[in-house]
Amino acid sequence: MNEIVRPREPETLPARAYWAEEDWAIERREIWAKNWVLVGGLEDLRDRGDYISAMVAGYPIVVIKSDEKLNAFHNVCRHRASPLVLEACGHLDKLTCPYHGWRYGLDGTLLHAPAMHLEKSEYGLFGVRCETWRGLVFVCLDATAPSLEQWMQDVSEAALRFPLERMHLARKLTLEADVNWKTYADNYAEGWHVPTIHPGLNASIDMASYRVETLGSVLQKHSAQARDGGLSDGLWLWRLPGFFINMYSWGMSVEQIEPVGPRKLKLHYCYYFIDPKDAKDEVLDWSLSVVKEDIAICERVQKNLEAGIYDRGRLSLVFENGVVQFQEFVEQSCRGQISA
Ligand code: FES
Ligand SMILES: [Fe+2]
Repeated sequence: MNEIVRPREPETLPARAYWAEEDWAIERREIWAKNWVLVGGLEDLRDRGDYISAMVAGYPIVVIKSDEKLNAFHNVCRHRASPLVLEACGHLDKLTCPYHGWRYGLDGTLLHAPAMHLEKSEYGLFGVRCETWRGLVFVCLDATAPSLEQWMQDVSEAALRFPLERMHLARKLTLEADVNWKTYADNYAEGWHVPTIHPGLNASIDMASYRVETLGSVLQKHSAQARDGGLSDGLWLWRLPGFFINMYSWGMSVEQIEPVGPRKLKLHYCYYFIDPKDAKDEVLDWSLSVVKEDIAICERVQKNLEAGIYDRGRLSLVFENGVVQFQEFVEQSCRGQISA
């Protein structure tokens, strides 16, 4: 009798890739410095001199509104490396370094270096690419990466039916987790854990309808139907490596993950509503409780990845297609340099 040949389930990334400094150095260079990263919304950059700051691939960045456009720079003075702005967002009339007073134009040109006779044109700020997509502001450190429009192409098509421009920012928050960014991403990439880890979410969505679709090599689409009266009917997109956009009939949430080293992660959230009256604490608290459940299981997994007995597991082709796609993205982006 012929035996049924089943495809072999792929192995996970090795445990070491989830905590080693050298792997983080590779990912920082090959993944985070080569992709677009969300740093804020146009609502914070309306007037000339408005600015936002962020960390991208471990580099401090500032985005400033000038008369005609957004300019992004490394947030580092060309004199002796002081940060130029210290707040997450704000307004400035002049871009003056708070250390010794070097002054720059909003286009990054060095205008004034007190008591010095140097060639000012050689000491402008280090520029960074900055582009916008439907009211959201992104930066990219790689001069050769595709435009944001190309990078977001599949997201744009899937998001067409949602009126993002009519949505109002209701709340921003940042959470921290003691995990490698891939521990969090692996968890995000599957809905298999919803019944065990998210009892509240499980009660509101019909898990039989939960789908993870991998579209090409860099996009995931998650969807599920609400049970009657449930809150969570929507479309959840993840543009790898770290931009998540969850769209609903009443608004959206966007999330950008920011690795802060091999064992620490920040999660930046913005919640938007079409009708600001819908921005009720209970909706936000409910969403946040799901995130906190994810962080709790990821921190437990992270500890075991670091403990030393576990190295590689196997991934289900039925429930973990999203994890397989994500881990292939990491391996391909790092061109085999990740820990063996
Ligand atoms: S470091 Fe900026 S003026 Fe000295
Ligand atoms: Fe989860």
